[in-house]
Amino acid sequence: MLGLKLLTDPRWANIAEANIAEILTDHAWCEQKAASNAISLITQNPEHEDLVHELTAIAIEEMQHFQMVIDIIKQRGYSLGRERKDDYVNQLMKFAKKDGSRNSAFIDRLLFAAMIEARSCERFRVLSQHINDEELANFYHDLMVSEANHYTTFLGFARRYAVDLNVDKRWKEWLEFEGDLITSYGTKEHIHG
Ligand SMILES: [Fe+2]
Ligand SMILES: [Fe+2]
Repeated sequence: MLGLKLLTDPRWANIAEANIAEILTDHAWCEQKAASNAISLITQNPEHEDLVHELTAIAIEEMQHFQMVIDIIKQRGYSLGRERKDDYVNQLMKFAKKDGSRNSAFIDRLLFAAMIEARSCERFRVLSQHINDEELANFYHDLMVSEANHYTTFLGFARRYAVDLNVDKRWKEWLEFEGDLITSYGTKEHIHG
């Protein structure tokens, strides 16, 4: 799925379902961070008009997702907790190239975003298929489709702006790295936990 090297063990969905309040708080902040990430890409790369346009739409969509999650939290009588640490994303951030040319850092930043979208999409798929709560299963199905589109957008921009960089080769390195990294996760009631 989306080139991912390792799929999530469906038993992770049981862990998630056993603590829905925690999953929802963690999830809400994942959406907020996705919006913030899109906004900072816009801020740092205003010369790319098409990127500004499409990432504005993504930032809005991610905040709509945030709103949907906080609505569910409210409906169910839970409360939004503080932002949870996302060790998985922090490890991916460390893998992203920050040296080299400005463009190679930019391309890696896009691949970083594509990677998170791909795994989030896969986790939403697991939730949509394996949790018993029908309302949430449907909700996660819809989000899975949306995050798959974001994945395509980020990877598409990486290819468009790569110029002399080999995006396919670098994307393979990302998939390999993530495939190893994810073996340490799948045991917690967090979206990337
Ligand atoms: Fe989202
Ligand atoms: Fe997304």
